[in-house]
Amino acid sequence: MLTFDIRHFESITSTNDIAKELLQQGGKEGLVIWADEQTRGRGRMGRRWISAPGNLYFSLVLEPHRLLTEISQLSILAAVAVGDMMASLLPDDVVVSYKWPNDILLNGQKVCGILLETHPLSGNERDMGVVIGIGINLQHAPENTIYPATSLLNFIPSPLIAAEVLPQCLAQFQFYYAKWLKNGFSAIRQPWKDRAFGLGKRMIFAVNGYQYKGNFIDIDGTGAMLINNDQGDIETISSAEILFA
Ligand code: BTN
Repeated sequence: MLTFDIRHFESITSTNDIAKELLQQGGKEGLVIWADEQTRGRGRMGRRWISAPGNLYFSLVLEPHRLLTEISQLSILAAVAVGDMMASLLPDDVVVSYKWPNDILLNGQKVCGILLETHPLSGNERDMGVVIGIGINLQHAPENTIYPATSLLNFIPSPLIAAEVLPQCLAQFQFYYAKWLKNGFSAIRQPWKDRAFGLGKRMIFAVNGYQYKGNFIDIDGTGAMLINNDQGDIETISSAEILFA
């Protein structure tokens, strides 16, 4: 079973960067780097992740001994784990959804981002260190972002404390990770689909800088998005950004 070695810092550059450094120095699966504040927090696609105190910023190190194609599923797994945790804390009328592949939205606004990075540990392609960085807007959200952002505090009466939320996230992760190691993507496909944003709807997608439209019909057995495009063809997309519905 996955167990955790949590290291806490008041202020660091990026929990992903420190996790990567420690991984390369022999850090093991289950290492968790958690910071109150990041001075160079990073998001996907080279974006900045504003990381002032009050929110939760952490990175989890894994060594799943799987191929890269399977490892990318771990960011979807992380979304499902954090999404479950959030749903348990929020009133029933708040809609928790997953924007493919791994953003978490509350009533359509982004509350959590996940950044998965891999680092080869040897020449063996299955010998890959994985760092999963997770940022959760507990108490505040950035303004003027490309996609509207929110925080959990907008939906609950009193602020959540990072030290209390972190173990709950890790417990959910541990639960789904064990299932994923045993059963692969089928362990998380349905929980993800149950809260999928835009599933069955017409969306605009950005793929490699090119925008196009289509119906988001499903995710396949690997976690890739299946799109019915305007020519009536089914396309499989494994890296894209959904712009809006
Ligand atoms: C995204 O949605 O673009 C991903 C954001 C990931 C942010 C987290 S915060 C903890 C970890 N450290 C980082 O520098 N980034 C990730």
